[in-house]
Amino acid sequence: MAPEVGCAGEKAAARIMIIAQIADTHLVAADGADPMFEARTENLRACVADINGLDPLPDVVIHTGDLTQNGVAAEFDHAQTLLAALKMPLYVTPGNRDGREGMARAFAADGYMPPDCAFVHYAVDGHPVRLVAMDSLADDGAAKGDFCPARLTSLDATLAQAPARPTALFMHHPPFDVPAAPDPFAYQRRQAVADLAAVVARHPQVVRIFTGHMHRPCVATVGGVAASTVPSVAVDKRYGDYAASMEGQPVYHVHRFERDWGFSSESRLVVSQADL
Ligand SMILES: [Fe+2]
Repeated sequence: MAPEVGCAGEKAAARIMIIAQIADTHLVAADGADPMFEARTENLRACVADINGLDPLPDVVIHTGDLTQNGVAAEFDHAQTLLAALKMPLYVTPGNRDGREGMARAFAADGYMPPDCAFVHYAVDGHPVRLVAMDSLADDGAAKGDFCPARLTSLDATLAQAPARPTALFMHHPPFDVPAAPDPFAYQRRQAVADLAAVVARHPQVVRIFTGHMHRPCVATVGGVAASTVPSVAVDKRYGDYAASMEGQPVYHVHRFERDWGFSSESRLVVSQADL
């Protein structure tokens, strides 16, 4: 049976949902004398302005991790100052650079993350597509990802709560090989990814998986579901073939969900505000 969208009485327009996805902003703090402060600040500021100028506006923005370079409070503060300009709700999931505790502390006031923070896992309801954030961080703090049994059990239970609602997962580490990357596999264990794919395959309402971490675009299939990475917003850390003329232009993704055919996605090339 095809998943239902929305509920009775929902206006027709709400059956379309637009998600803007940004990732890997790697922001540094102004007080750290890091030479990338201004460039990465400008990259995110330009993205925020571009997202706010889209017509129609996205319903939500998701950030799939590595919001910060070092996971310190000053970097999260700086990020929140920039992201506060967004006209729509923002949902974040931690990257290996962020750490889960620092991110959960920074965004606690927004109310959507679990306060105890054994892992950052939550669901966002109230939109045509249910969003489920998955914490892909390894418990030992390593750059590569992992899923512990508790997280997979929690995901299974969260998905079981709403079996008829189209659902998109978002996490930092892509649970698939990215062949163009120097190290194509982002997890510590193959079994972790196989276990995630098995959970996804048990819940046919899962229609997309959005990730970051690789700083380059790639698409694959996980548990029968389309999954993708997004280029890094931080242009100095972006990989892939981009023309030199695009050096000042960050890239992000716009995912559009339609009831009849699911998600379609496009890359959005941002013109730096400094160039306008
Ligand atoms: Fe990153």
